[in-house]
Amino acid sequence: MILVTGGVGYIGAHICVELLSDGNDVLILDNLCNSSRITVERITVLAGARPSFIEGDVRNRPLLERIFTDYPIDAVVHCAGLKAVGESVREPLRYFETNVSGSVNLCQAMADAGVHTLLFSSSATVYGECVQMPIDESCVLGQPTNPYGHSKLMAENVMGSIARSDPRWSVGLLRYFNPIGAHPSGLLGEAPTTAPNNLLPYLLQVATGQQKELSIFGDDYPTPDGTGVRDYIHVMDLAGGHLKALDYLQRNSGVHTWNLGTGRGYSVLEMVNAFERVSGMNIPLKTTPRRNGDIAQCWADPGKAARELSWCATRNLDEMLRDAWRWQCQNPHGYEVDNLYPNTSEPEDVTMIRLVRSADALFRPNTTRDANKTIT
Ligand code: NAD
Ligand code: UFG
Repeated sequence: MILVTGGVGYIGAHICVELLSDGNDVLILDNLCNSSRITVERITVLAGARPSFIEGDVRNRPLLERIFTDYPIDAVVHCAGLKAVGESVREPLRYFETNVSGSVNLCQAMADAGVHTLLFSSSATVYGECVQMPIDESCVLGQPTNPYGHSKLMAENVMGSIARSDPRWSVGLLRYFNPIGAHPSGLLGEAPTTAPNNLLPYLLQVATGQQKELSIFGDDYPTPDGTGVRDYIHVMDLAGGHLKALDYLQRNSGVHTWNLGTGRGYSVLEMVNAFERVSGMNIPLKTTPRRNGDIAQCWADPGKAARELSWCATRNLDEMLRDAWRWQCQNPHGYEVDNLYPNTSEPEDVTMIRLVRSADALFRPNTTRDANKTIT
């Protein structure tokens, strides 16, 4: 059984679907501080298998001890964490407590239980402002520009140290570049609970009229069109990388670091143009000064993951944007209003049949909407 912390969050939910679909038993631990219990039902529909779910906190040591006693856990995928850069500047202690202390707590509970296989959701933010492009795993780690970035680097250092101290550990540090997109069913996606900070969720809300216009944070970077360049990766490709990495960790001990990116960068303007083409929507824009702490460009050399894990991203930018737009159209308020799971008093088997039918319906092209304004 695989424990996925943060397993009902944006990335964790996609990982759970892939793990369950691959025949693994999955236990999710999530305190729901940035997610919804409804996601468990949607994971179940998509995977055709139900994960076990515990609402709880990775900082709760007695709870973790009980979990490792009660469930036959072989490996842990640690996605639980706080991720809003701006919030981390305002509330650094909360970020260090969750992302660093929470990770230490988890590692201690794992060590006590004799579970030594750990995959960690890290971030390209640990590279800071890297001069070399593309970025490979041997790049000197930079100075993260905010407490969130520091907390990820600190957690990486903790996990690297324990793996080096005891040969029983197999630790994978996955440095995500910029995950976007959604499950192609439109049932899982990113559901920000406050005004989004990241480019794509904000752009989606402009497209649906929830935000007035998209600010382009600087058009004077030393990039081809002056706007920031990032390596956007489909969340389904990212999830697939976790299965490959877990497989590798079963056979190799020590600490291993892999970039999960596509190896291709797109500028903000390229993203907007591609989204307009894919969705048929018009995105009002305004240019503002650079955002504090932003770097000009960042894209991965994903060669190490290709060589060691036989993994590479296969979905292109159009697919990322199309899937993200489908998710946004079908869930304009995220998981808040659940049109799939409104009646919690009905028997579970009735709910499951209805959920499967709803999911089937969602897979069918929607012919009633303006074809120019929505994708099918
Ligand atoms: P998310 O907020 O959607 O998911 C995180 C999940 O962790 C949420 O369900 C939240 O409720 C849960 N959680 C938070 N604190 C917890 C705690 N103390 N105990 C138990 N559960 C807790 O974020 P995401 O985008 O899915 O990111 C997942 C991981 O990937 C995070 O660690 C994040 O830092 C990392 N990451 C994300 C990105 C990105 O752009 N989304 C990029 C790089 C790295
Ligand atoms: N951008 C805009 N307008 C917006 C939002 C973003 O122009 O409204 C620009 C940014 O300036 C940047 C690009 O779009 O050039 C991407 O910005 P995001 O905020 O989407 O992503 P970042 O690369 O800044 O950071 C994200 C996560 C970090 C993570 C990093 C690498 O927020 O947590 O990717 O994985 F560390």
